[in-house]
Amino acid sequence: MSMDRGDTFRIAVMVSGGGTNLQAIIDAIASGKIRNTRIVRVISNRKDAYALERAAKAGIDAVAVSRTDYQDKESFEKALIRAVDEADADLIVLAGFLVVLPAELTDRYEGRMINIHPSLIPSFCGKGYYGLKVHEEALKRGVKVTGATVHFVDSGCDTGPIIMQKAVEVQDGDTPEILQKRVMEQAEWVILPEAIDRLANNRTVRDKT
Ligand code: GAR
Repeated sequence: MSMDRGDTFRIAVMVSGGGTNLQAIIDAIASGKIRNTRIVRVISNRKDAYALERAAKAGIDAVAVSRTDYQDKESFEKALIRAVDEADADLIVLAGFLVVLPAELTDRYEGRMINIHPSLIPSFCGKGYYGLKVHEEALKRGVKVTGATVHFVDSGCDTGPIIMQKAVEVQDGDTPEILQKRVMEQAEWVILPEAIDRLANNRTVRDKT
């Protein structure tokens, strides 16, 4: 257990890529939108994730646990679990973490792990729906409204209890990239920090433990 636990709500953020959601969390803590919270560790499954640079710039402990460094899936997953456990966090935030987590991890952190997904669950979610793919499918189906969802993580894929959702309009001429950007700006970067602030300050998560 770390020396400075105090009353600060400790979060660990798991990332795979650009880390714009991580940045939204860093900024929301700095501006006071997320209260009483500290990011104690950023965990990436990719060494080249730009999210790691964002963490470094903000002075946050960051580690990369890459599948390529391990002989098999089992040892990779063990290392991943160790990296999460070591953070000693009150809440684990999956912010664009695109690896399916081992059941051991989702079971251990049930009720203390949340995910941001770029659609209104139960639309365009589950296996194979991640990143830009979600927006490609939404445009293909011709929906007029999409959005983002923050939910607790359980052992399924995007199946856990929903915490917050925000709708975003699809506009004529949208490409997957344009829609992704609008969903991030209008929904993801808004509801993910808000959900963290709620969990940190209503003590909902801690009360359960
Ligand atoms: C975000 O749009 C996030 O919702 C999505 O990946 C992107 C990561 O962007 N997550 C999923 O699709 C999870 N199934 P970021 O690295 O810039 O935050």
